[in-house]
Amino acid sequence: MPDSALRAATFLDKGGVGKTTATAHIGVALDRHGYDVLLLDLAGKQGDLAKHFGLWEDVQAGEDRWPNITTVFQDQWEKIAEKLPTPVDDLIMPTGEGPDLIPAHESLDGLDATLGNIDDAAERYSRLDEFLTEDVADDYDVILLDLPGSTSNIAYNGLWAAGHVVAPVRPGPFEAGQAEQLRQDLETIRNEQGVSIELVMVLLNEVDERTKAGKTYLEEFQTEYPDSLAPTQIPSSQDVQNAQMNGGTLFALERRSKTADRAIEAYETDAEVLVDRLGAEE
Ligand SMILES: Nc1ncnc2c1ncn2[C@@H]1O[C@H](COP(=O)(O)OP(=O)(O)OP(=O)(O)O)[C@@H](O)[C@H]1O
Ligand SMILES: [Mg+2]
Repeated sequence: MPDSALRAATFLDKGGVGKTTATAHIGVALDRHGYDVLLLDLAGKQGDLAKHFGLWEDVQAGEDRWPNITTVFQDQWEKIAEKLPTPVDDLIMPTGEGPDLIPAHESLDGLDATLGNIDDAAERYSRLDEFLTEDVADDYDVILLDLPGSTSNIAYNGLWAAGHVVAPVRPGPFEAGQAEQLRQDLETIRNEQGVSIELVMVLLNEVDERTKAGKTYLEEFQTEYPDSLAPTQIPSSQDVQNAQMNGGTLFALERRSKTADRAIEAYETDAEVLVDRLGAEE
């Protein structure tokens, strides 16, 4: 196991591509493989990651919970953390499937503007990185961040803190362009901010390799992303949504379809490869 937690963020500047689903499933897969995993929901106050684990009612019941994820971005966080007996434990909820979760909070809504008031870019984007490094990284093997489907000060904090991006992509005529845009955005960040954020995994989601179109997309991505394409595509499975409605991942479903089993195997393979890629860069 690594000394300090390996980190990755699921991100693509596009909604509904499978970021939250990938975060949850990769997280549970790694937990089952023996890693201590923390999931962190920065994707917005709707709390999708908590919903994915059937924890939404608990999150809502604790809406006045303090500290919460927004607190760690505040100027005074370091002083707050010193005074609280268990500052990080106060943020965490167990998911029931292995990984710990720091859920989203409604105050994430106002956080983006607050961060925007910080003049210095390095300071504005590094708050989360500081929190993870100072308070969290020693206690986990892997930290996965679920980010919003658009760029924002919060998303940049996630990218800065993770340093590595897993980009779920749905097959379609415009999707290759989105992955390419992400690659260019990361290049711009590297040039302008001097911060290196690697596109460590392009994860093709809901691909049917048995169709001609599916095969063509796969070949295109293999050519474009020979190093970062995930080895296994995630098939489309109705059971993903069935599991989510039951408040769990596919791993927690008692009766699974064949496509669900294939999706699980794909997430497991890709999760291990992700850890290898993250570890190789340390
Ligand atoms: N492999 C899959 N098979 C079937 N349905 C899937 C699969 N992956 C994701 N979905 C469904 O697609 C929808 C979007 O997935 P998800 O919420 O993970 O995307 P997202 O990128 O996090 O979206 P947002 O940008 O809104 O946060 C969900 O309803 C989810 O159940
Ligand atoms: Mg999401």
